Amino acid sequence: MQKILFVTNNKHKLQEARQILSGKFEVLSLKEIGFEGDIPETQPTIEGNAIQKVRFIYDRYKTDCFADDTGLIVSALGGEPGVYSARYAGENATFEDNMNLLLEKMKDIKDRKAYFVTVIALIKDGKLYTFEGRVDGVITTTPRGEKGFGYDPVFLPDGYDKTFAEMTAEQKNKISHRGRALEKLAGFLLK
Ligand code: IMP
Repeated sequence: MQKILFVTNNKHKLQEARQILSGKFEVLSLKEIGFEGDIPETQPTIEGNAIQKVRFIYDRYKTDCFADDTGLIVSALGGEPGVYSARYAGENATFEDNMNLLLEKMKDIKDRKAYFVTVIALIKDGKLYTFEGRVDGVITTTPRGEKGFGYDPVFLPDGYDKTFAEMTAEQKNKISHRGRALEKLAGFLLK
């Protein structure tokens, strides 16, 4: 089976990628190649951050790898939290802090439309490729569910009555932003 390195320190993302690519690829983590530390994420766009992360590791290890960057885009907030999704409530904010800030900012807002977008950047044989996945939905008024991570408890995908945090991993992965981007990545790598 082909091996591919996922440039992430997020155990939830790693688990999702392993589930989606299982049987097709062995997904290696940064820990497995001995990298510990932070990866810079200082670009003004989601695509820019995905590319920055993958280049950072490729330049050091010269091995095929991919990185993802995700943002939650809320239309009534002019696209916030967007590229700042991870640190919406501040540099050391927890998932809960970010989610609470979002709910607070939206407490009087009726238009709850939002989407998640993931950009995956891949470097293979020295060449850069990108793949995008998106899922549309609405922001709930209170958090629901214990599974998943990040903003999952307040994101209700269109056409479903469960938030991402109430779904099983399989259900979320089938329709999620990251699931869709990973399927495109797998299609490209297997072609
Ligand atoms: P990152 O920069 O790609 O790690 O993502 C930024 C932030 O978006 C994360 O810290 C999470 O708060 C949020 N996020 C990313 N992916 C998901 C997801 O699948 N569900 C919910 N929140 C997510």
